[in-house]
Amino acid sequence: MLVLGIESSCDETGVALVEAQGTAVPVLRAQALHSQIGMHQAYGGVVPELASRDHIRRVLPLTQQVLEEASSVLADIDVIAYTRGPGLAGALLVGAGVACALGAALGKPVLGVHHLEGHLLSPFLGADPPQFPFVALLVSGGHTQLMRVDGVGQYEVLGETIDDAAGEAFDKSAKLMGLGYPGGPALARVAQDGDPAAYKLPRPLLHSGNLDFSFAGLKTAVLVQTRKLVAAHAGEASSGPPAAVDVLPPQVLASLAASTQAAIVEVLLKKSLAALRHTGLQRLVIAGGVGANRELRRQLDAACARQGARVHYPELHLCTDNGAMIALAAAMRLQSGQQEATRVYAFDVKPRWGLDSLVRKFDPTIATTET
Ligand code: KG4
Ligand code: ZN
Repeated sequence: MLVLGIESSCDETGVALVEAQGTAVPVLRAQALHSQIGMHQAYGGVVPELASRDHIRRVLPLTQQVLEEASSVLADIDVIAYTRGPGLAGALLVGAGVACALGAALGKPVLGVHHLEGHLLSPFLGADPPQFPFVALLVSGGHTQLMRVDGVGQYEVLGETIDDAAGEAFDKSAKLMGLGYPGGPALARVAQDGDPAAYKLPRPLLHSGNLDFSFAGLKTAVLVQTRKLVAAHAGEASSGPPAAVDVLPPQVLASLAASTQAAIVEVLLKKSLAALRHTGLQRLVIAGGVGANRELRRQLDAACARQGARVHYPELHLCTDNGAMIALAAAMRLQSGQQEATRVYAFDVKPRWGLDSLVRKFDPTIATTET
């Protein structure tokens, strides 16, 4: 079974072909990606209308590129998968529209995929795929969740953010330091040369006794600290509030970034370890854009090694949005009998779509026939 996956939920157009045989873990045959980062950079964030228009320009050439790379033609495709949500409505409609048009033209069934399920399952495309059950830490620009995953579609939310997501904390902190967009990688780069203990920043909900997160307070603390440092270094000549990146000595800026990163990483690390303890599981899967953060990976690797647990990551290039995870999630849902692809091409998108709606509580005493 050859599955074409189309991702267009935000600022990346991703297309990929995944092959699934029997119940074996699907294999990535080819993928292509166009990132809109360069286009949105001038605005300091994603401009939805521009994002949609660019997806329209990119999606068919990328599809062509993927088919050529896999030495395949459109007729070889068995199922066309697309990101149904969550994400930007206009951007999602491009992927859904193209998927349904291709499906209708080729007489092939389509399947709308939950973006976060794509992230969640993306480590299965890595060299070291996890086995069920595992604890998943899903850390993207819009979501921060800890989940117990017993199988495809068998997700139990253990804890989640009550305000900002971890990626948002990176992005907003970077923005107020003047580091630009996307903030996560920019802040991580600057942090490399800094002292993570230089500035005392809060670790929200670290001792809350549950597995929820909160990052809004940290953002405020970073803002206050940044303003203090800028005021101390700006001198009297400056008029208006200058950006930290323009006035702080490189070492000070690096330490501010490193302290911010350390606060976010410590909370993610400690809550993940608590989730392992809580579930009694020894396998942790990290998914979503923030999973690309090297400091997070370094600390998770060290801590899990100490307590005999294993951590699985998606390949670095599959941490952020891509078409491969969408094709993969579709293939795994089809393999598991969780869902069937449809020849009804009434594409509808779900800009707001909780992963909870996919959740099926695992109960081995109940026959898991498809609904
Ligand atoms: O999963 P993703 O590509 O898109 C969403 O579904 O949100 O995640 C994007 C988020 C952004 O907030 C970005 O700043 C963050 O992931 N990110 C990082 C790194 N690379 C991407 N955050 C910290 N360190 C990184 N290296
Ligand atoms: Zn994403």
